[in-house]
Amino acid sequence: MADRRQVLRLGAIAAGAPVVLGAVGSPVEAAPRRGGRTLVIGHRGASGYRPEHTLASYELAARTGADFIEPDLVATKDHVLVARHEPEIGGTTDVASRPEFASRRRTVVVDGVSVTGWFTHDFTLAELKTLRATERIPEVRQHNTLYDGLFQVPTLSEVLELRERLCRDLGREIGVYPETKHPTYFRRLGLDLETPLVAALRRRGLNRRDAPVFVQSFEATNLRSLHDDYRLRVPLVFLTSATGGPFEDPLSYAEYLTPAGLRELARYTDGVGPEKGQVIPREADGTLGTPTRLVADAHAAGLRVMPYTFRAENQFLPAELRTGTDPAAYGRALDEQVIFLRTGIDGLFTDQPDIGVLARDLALAPA
Ligand code: G3P
Ligand code: CA
Repeated sequence: MADRRQVLRLGAIAAGAPVVLGAVGSPVEAAPRRGGRTLVIGHRGASGYRPEHTLASYELAARTGADFIEPDLVATKDHVLVARHEPEIGGTTDVASRPEFASRRRTVVVDGVSVTGWFTHDFTLAELKTLRATERIPEVRQHNTLYDGLFQVPTLSEVLELRERLCRDLGREIGVYPETKHPTYFRRLGLDLETPLVAALRRRGLNRRDAPVFVQSFEATNLRSLHDDYRLRVPLVFLTSATGGPFEDPLSYAEYLTPAGLRELARYTDGVGPEKGQVIPREADGTLGTPTRLVADAHAAGLRVMPYTFRAENQFLPAELRTGTDPAAYGRALDEQVIFLRTGIDGLFTDQPDIGVLARDLALAPA
């Protein structure tokens, strides 16, 4: 196994030097970053250290150096936006242990997929507030179970209020990076995400181009509508996966990421948020492969690139950067992030923001 210095050399890549990248059969000179600071985005807060999407998780993210905190947004029955990764809440709250809500368990189809559990849109905010957050992956993050039962499900309004307090306390700008989750699904329930999101941002004076806000979505039509119909003025970011496409969209994510697709996206968005394997894919043996053209092509279209999700545990790392055999143990996450940062990405989503901040410092250091 390569040692750390070897890995960092493999990652190439002296700070500021042009990086020769090659998609398969297609060498390319990486476009320089679009300028500005490379952003560390606290993915679901500091979800490596606290149950995700809790005020405690967001606060820790900011206090450990994140530039942005990231609430995923869904709606309650009474049309209030709350921070959860999906409408189903059995995986991240104690709702299953609450006899008063046992009858709410049911099966629904979310974006064509049948899901059984408890759903935010079957609960009023007051009911949801009686629940407590729990760790999603206790088998990986046993230490986070220490906090099970302590924290509520926060509203978007509470997250924005926390952001303002953290800016004051820390003496620096903390941005917010909300994601609309399943916007078509919620619209069809009569609980559109766009109206309360734009209203909440307006109330806080954040509906402007230079606000410390990015709004992101896996549905391009949702972003286009936020831009064209709702007159949302903050920068927008289109999220993509390595396979498939947005719900009920004739275009695949791969088609959106062609040079022509990126130029069209640039009409109403400011960036893309790809799965990290779309920036550096893995080989069949699980090791890191050769960077693709995505960063260069997106930069050429005037778009930022902020991939997800960087996590410190072995099971999320490329094979050559794992340490030992325990999938839940930490591997060489710093090395992975430095390698990605040196492709010219403009930011990264990470569950451990302190590691992202350190990786950014290392990536900028002379080789
Ligand atoms: O929003 C970036 C990243 O969070 C997208 O993935 O599934 O964690 O929301 P997900
Ligand atoms: Ca997200």
